Amino acid sequence: AEVDLQAVHDTLVSVAFEAGRMILAANPSATSPDTKMNAVDIVTETDKAVERMVSERLRAAFPTFAFVGEETYEAGVTRITEAPTFVVDPIDGTTNFVHGFPNACISLGLAVGRSPAVGVVYNPFQDLLFTGIKGKGSYLQRNASLEEGKGKGEKVRLPLAGGPALGNLSSALVSIEWGSQRDGENFELKARTFRKLAASKENGGGGMIGGMRSLGSAALNLCACAAGQLDMYWEGGCYAWDVAAGWCILNEAGGRMVSGNPGEWETALDSRVYLAVRGASSGQEELIKEFWGIIGD
Ligand code: IPD
Repeated sequence: AEVDLQAVHDTLVSVAFEAGRMILAANPSATSPDTKMNAVDIVTETDKAVERMVSERLRAAFPTFAFVGEETYEAGVTRITEAPTFVVDPIDGTTNFVHGFPNACISLGLAVGRSPAVGVVYNPFQDLLFTGIKGKGSYLQRNASLEEGKGKGEKVRLPLAGGPALGNLSSALVSIEWGSQRDGENFELKARTFRKLAASKENGGGGMIGGMRSLGSAALNLCACAAGQLDMYWEGGCYAWDVAAGWCILNEAGGRMVSGNPGEWETALDSRVYLAVRGASSGQEELIKEFWGIIGD
């Protein structure tokens, strides 16, 4: 049966506000339990409580849909299938949350046929709501949780400035994250990529990019690309729940997600290595190729 994406969107928005209230009321302290990778791969009681609340609400509203969440994921067991699947990160940016650095969000996606179909990303610290529905565009709403008539912001279509042409990397603002895996192959990949992007040619790099940022939330990085505030975002090592919702919002703002591995134009939700570029009247493919050229050398 056809999925009513608008109904899913409306439910996700109300669940996001409820999660936002829980996040703002919390007094977080991080634990790094056995199930996580290492001391910097942290989780709080709030991550777990929010995921429980979200999965209860979504199972009640859409009982036939599958659910994949960061805190209940089992490596090698949990899979995203063709079926309508909620892909949820209860708090994306947990480290920021623990420090009170206001760049964290709840990220609620729906994938249908393994492809992002609805995305809701809500940053309760700044009361910013990003939403997207496949085929219907994406939006930013400021002061989103306020009651109508009390200053609730208008929904503004993304990208904010309409998506002007992209130049080359030397003028681009790019976000790239270290994530929590700090060893092995994945660490080497990230370290090489950071170095190549940052360094001048003389220092073994690709000739410098305009600016590099690590803001600590994959979902908000994708939303910033959708808004046109960042030109690109690269990460190797994050998961489907970090990107599912933001990916839909990015697509609907004319942005594009390709693989973070040079040459792969098609990529999957669980590919773990992503490169996003913002919507633009021209220059997208050229900038992706320039980026791949630098990191692939
Ligand atoms: C993390 C954030 C971070 C990214 C990591 C993710 P979490 O999500 O999105 O920006 O670099 O790869 O794990 O753990 O805060 O939900």
